[in-house]
Amino acid sequence: MAARFIGSVVAPVLWPGLSRRCSQHATGLARSPGSLRPLGSNAQPLWRMGQYTPAALGEQLSRSYCSTQSPDVYTAPPQPLAREAPSVGHGFNTLANVKVDLERKELNVSWEGSGAKSQAYPFVWLRDNCHCPQCFHPTALGRLPSSTHHLNVDVIADVVEISADGRSLIVQWDDGHESEFLFHWLGYHRFDQSLDDQLLYPKQSLWGSDVNIKSFDFDELLAEDHSLYSWLAELVTRGVALVKNAPAEVGQVYKLAERVAYLRATTYGATFHVMSKPDPSSVGYTTGPFAMHTDYAPLSRTPGVLLLHCILPAGEGGESLLVDGFKVAQDLKKIDPEAFRLLTTYEFDYSEKGTDCFGSFYMHSRHPVIKLNELGDVEQIVISNQSRDPMLRVPVDQIQPIYHAFNKYFNMLQLPENLLQYKLQKGDILTNDNRRVLHGRNSFQTNARHLEGGYVEWDEVNSRLRALTLQLQKNTTDE
Ligand code: OGA
Ligand code: ZN
Ligand code: ZN
Repeated sequence: MAARFIGSVVAPVLWPGLSRRCSQHATGLARSPGSLRPLGSNAQPLWRMGQYTPAALGEQLSRSYCSTQSPDVYTAPPQPLAREAPSVGHGFNTLANVKVDLERKELNVSWEGSGAKSQAYPFVWLRDNCHCPQCFHPTALGRLPSSTHHLNVDVIADVVEISADGRSLIVQWDDGHESEFLFHWLGYHRFDQSLDDQLLYPKQSLWGSDVNIKSFDFDELLAEDHSLYSWLAELVTRGVALVKNAPAEVGQVYKLAERVAYLRATTYGATFHVMSKPDPSSVGYTTGPFAMHTDYAPLSRTPGVLLLHCILPAGEGGESLLVDGFKVAQDLKKIDPEAFRLLTTYEFDYSEKGTDCFGSFYMHSRHPVIKLNELGDVEQIVISNQSRDPMLRVPVDQIQPIYHAFNKYFNMLQLPENLLQYKLQKGDILTNDNRRVLHGRNSFQTNARHLEGGYVEWDEVNSRLRALTLQLQKNTTDE
């Protein structure tokens, strides 16, 4: 994976000029910038020349912290071995008492302060989570293979005590091994009562066309961690945000993605360019309208977050269309539970064939329109009429009901109270959750409209958010 990626990213400094690429494009190559290769016999494909080296951008991103606001949206687990004060927001008091229950093979721990609940911790779980250097690598932060007794349910604590300052619980095991557990680490890991990682089941605010999309300044995002945090948090909660004032030239998507982690390349390269092309390989590459869709449905893991940078807006038309697929799914569930059931049960096939950065490809996947998670909540919407395959592996008597349900949902997506229109300005980067928010566009007049798009993945977005949460909390407690 990584090796493929290294070869696939084009550092903008290596691109000699857009107009030349456009004319290459006009010779009929497929979809993305990855396909924008010189056609001369001895020419190197441009995408092979780039290296995924941030330094090649000629700019080191400065990372500073704006201390005027502190994040309060998400919690992240305290570092297992943290010796400092508990992280802001976790709010655990020091330990008050510990009782041994030999019959149940567990400890009962309580914290100081009124309202603090006690918690039972089975011995085996405590032993399994010993963080001494023999059991847990202090820098790799992972269990060591030497901790062979860690899964033994018969393990017994011989001696148990709370330190004088109430900050740690010390356990001596029947084999002489000793473990120490910090009060806030224990408090955080209270099984079903724990705070949990909020990004695993994020709270989302659903919206209609009256939503006020939040804007973020491109330079601030590159320079300030708090701004970065707020943008990513907005992507989690609303699934859409606008980045303003990026330079109107290729390569900005790459820079923005690098603040999170890295771009997710596709078969079209690290980024793709949306512009009107002869013999287009996508209905996006015409001047025509593009119906509401989520990107790249033929992939089993569809792209997580879309970054779409407007380098050149359309003179007339070309407005972006956006709709919160989760909100409309909820509406559908209320007014037509059977349609909702059908769309969460049966799957459509999606396929895409072509030749691009990595040679010929033939993507094929299968998704329900509305995907539910293990709690029964909506976790993903997949719609792409352009790549929906005739293959439909459902009972034939279900085909008409499925079409009926799909048509209903698709029409509801486009109701005026749901569908938002926004015309991208030069330098705007539209960012949205590709698993939740559908996008499309109106037709436009001029041929010159040009967008550069790319993707980052949710794992990386969530990882950056967690890391920023810890970092910003630490900065706050250090002040
Ligand atoms: C696309 C796309 C939107 C636009 O190419 O997938 O959604 O505004 N384009 O052209
Ligand atoms: Zn140990
Ligand atoms: Zn799209």
